[in-house]
Amino acid sequence: MTALFDPFSSPSLVSPDRIPPINAASSPVKLGLMASGSGSNVEAIAEAIAVGKLNAQIQVLVYNNPDAKVAARADRLGIPKVLLNHREFKSREALDQAIVETMQAYQAEWVIMAGWMRIVTQVLIDAFPKRALNIHPSLLPSFPGAHAIEQALETGVKITGCTVHFIELKVDSGPIIIQSAVPVFPDDTRETLHQRIQVEEHRIYPMAIALAARQAQTRNQS
Ligand code: GRF
Repeated sequence: MTALFDPFSSPSLVSPDRIPPINAASSPVKLGLMASGSGSNVEAIAEAIAVGKLNAQIQVLVYNNPDAKVAARADRLGIPKVLLNHREFKSREALDQAIVETMQAYQAEWVIMAGWMRIVTQVLIDAFPKRALNIHPSLLPSFPGAHAIEQALETGVKITGCTVHFIELKVDSGPIIIQSAVPVFPDDTRETLHQRIQVEEHRIYPMAIALAARQAQTRNQS
């Protein structure tokens, strides 16, 4: 029975599952990442770039917690990092203004929120129109907010998953780019379910970046 709880052997459903092939001739998409915690999605994106699955480069990582594990990961991966501690800013807008300036200083053209646990404002959204992405551990529009996994367990849904979407002002809303669905098992805990979802997050975030960048390219050419 233990196989039931092996997140790597769990079935999943990704949609869309076909991403146009990387156009090797186009220049890499310049990413500015934002994270507050462990940073496993940061690492997954870096790995996808390293193995040639994603034609991008990480210009900078902005993080807001001095103790966040993502800082050590960034060092190990050779990603430039900037700490913008939200406690040192007088408003959400002031923090976002500093983020925008940092992204611009590092020439990031896309903002990729990977476990950024702060509410963002129009200041950030306006600076990166249709170029700001977020990942959320549920099949949106179900379970927005900070307790998506607990709520999936509490409500007894049998399928949940993760979503990559464009960022809008309303938290965890915005046009959906890719979703992946996973089963919820009867004995799941927050940890086992999160682990299963994260396997999918690591798979779909690089795909979503590639897809969104492709769509932007097509828009610009037409
Ligand atoms: C992910 O589950 C993501 O969906 C949520 O925060 C978590 C970040 O995980 N927004 P990590 O820091 O990338 O490991």
